[in-house]
Amino acid sequence: MDRLKNKVAIVTGGSSGIGRATVQLFAMEGARVAIGDVDAAGGEETARLARAAGGDVFFQRTDVSRASDADALVKAAVARWGALHVLHNNAYWAPTGLNVLNTTEEQWDRTQAVTLKSMYLMARAAIPEMLKAGSGSIVNMASVAGVVGSRNFSAYAAAKGGVVALTKSMATDFGKQGIRVNCIAPGPIATPAIAELRKDPQWLERQLNRLLLSDLGRPEDIAYAALYLACDESSFVTGLTMLVDGGATAH
Ligand SMILES: NC(=O)c1ccc[n+]([C@@H]2O[C@H](COP(=O)([O-])OP(=O)(O)OC[C@H]3O[C@@H](n4cnc5c(N)ncnc54)[C@H](O)[C@@H]3O)[C@@H](O)[C@H]2O)c1
Repeated sequence: MDRLKNKVAIVTGGSSGIGRATVQLFAMEGARVAIGDVDAAGGEETARLARAAGGDVFFQRTDVSRASDADALVKAAVARWGALHVLHNNAYWAPTGLNVLNTTEEQWDRTQAVTLKSMYLMARAAIPEMLKAGSGSIVNMASVAGVVGSRNFSAYAAAKGGVVALTKSMATDFGKQGIRVNCIAPGPIATPAIAELRKDPQWLERQLNRLLLSDLGRPEDIAYAALYLACDESSFVTGLTMLVDGGATAH
C-alpha cells in the first residue's frame, strides 16, 4: 500500500488488459490516475472498478497518436490534481499475422503512429509538467518482439524496437533533471489482445515452448513491474529494458 502515495499518474491503453490491471494497482497503491484510451466503454469500466476500490481515477477519451489528444490528457490530469509525476505509455495498435510483404502502408503507418509516435507525443506533453514537479518516471511498454524480433509481426516489432531506443534516449536526455525513463518488455501475456491467437493450438504450443515457465503471463505480472518502475523504489533505475517474459529470451 501507498507505494505511489501523492503521485499523479497517466496510464494510456487503460481500457483493457495490462493497462486495466495497472490502473487498478496504481490506484490501490495511492496514485491518482488519469486513463487515456480510444475505447470509452472499457475506460469508464476501468475507472468504475478502480473507484469502487477507493481509487481517485478518471477516464478521458484519447487517441494517443494525435498530438492534441495527448496534450489534452496531460492538461486534464494537471488541471484536476495540480501536477504530474508518472506517465505509463501502454497503448498500442498493430495487425497480427503479417510480414513486410503483406503489410499495407496504411497498417505500417498506423502501427508506428499508435505504438511508437504516441510515446513521443505523450512524453512531449508530460515532461514539462514533470520538470515543474521536480521529478518524474516514464514507463514505456515495449515487448520481447522489440528485443528479439517476432514472426509475422514486423510492423509491431519495429515499433517496439523503436520504443527500446526511444526509452534509452529520453533517459539520457532527462536523467540529470530528475526524470527516469524505463521500459518493460513482456513476453506473451493472457490479455484480450491475444485472445484470438490463443485459440490456435500451434501458436500456443510455440509460445509455451519458448518459455522456461509453464504458462503465459497474467496482466498483473506486468502491472507489478510497472509499479516498481513508476515508484521511488526504483530511484536509481533508468534506461532499463525490463524483460518480464517467463524466460523466453534467456535461452
Ligand atoms: N499481451 C501480450 O502478450 C503483450 C506482450 C508484449 C507486449 N504487450 C504490450 O502491452 C501493452 C498492452 O497490451 P494488452 O495486451 O493489454 O492489449 P489490449 O488490447 O488489451 O489493450 C490495448 C489498449 O490500447 C488501446 N488503444 C488502441 N489504440 C489506441 C489509440 N490510438 N489511443 C489510445 N488507446 C488505444 C485499446 O483500446 C486497448 O484498450 C501494449 O503496448 C502491448 O504491445 C502485450
